[in-house]
Amino acid sequence: MSQRTLVLLKPDTVRRGLVGEVLGRFEAKGLRIVAMDQRTIDGEQADQHYAEHVERDFYPPLRAFVTSGPLVALVLEGDEAVEVVRLLNGATDGRKAAPGTIRGDFSLSNRENLVHGSDSPESADREIKLWFPDLP
Ligand code: CMP
Repeated sequence: MSQRTLVLLKPDTVRRGLVGEVLGRFEAKGLRIVAMDQRTIDGEQADQHYAEHVERDFYPPLRAFVTSGPLVALVLEGDEAVEVVRLLNGATDGRKAAPGTIRGDFSLSNRENLVHGSDSPESADREIKLWFPDLP
């Protein structure tokens, strides 16, 4: 079933010049770019996006990281897009992520792991409304 998901190419992806590489993997898989915008977010926006993590020990440095420079927010669409993006991204910790995945190929960190993908269709709905409120 065709689905939409929210993807972030986090500030490490932009800083390292990997936007084309990462975006190319999503496009080559067959996912369609429905919306795309480069922006720098503030702490309040980070708190809204990561609402379920704000109380966690790892959150303060994560907040500093995601607000540290421009990121690219995307809405991708395709069959089972939520699950497909998570498979392409790989495990959260880049040191444990399988080779062939985005994190497995390019990240050595649990925090600076290049990409975010919504973890469920319900999260995708919430996150798409948060990042792209005017998207039809
Ligand atoms: P993401 O998929 O965006 O969802 C939550 C983010 O928190 C995750 O990717 C990582 O960037 C970060 N994260 C999750 N767990 C940890 C952890 N144990 N230590 C540091 N960062 C983490």
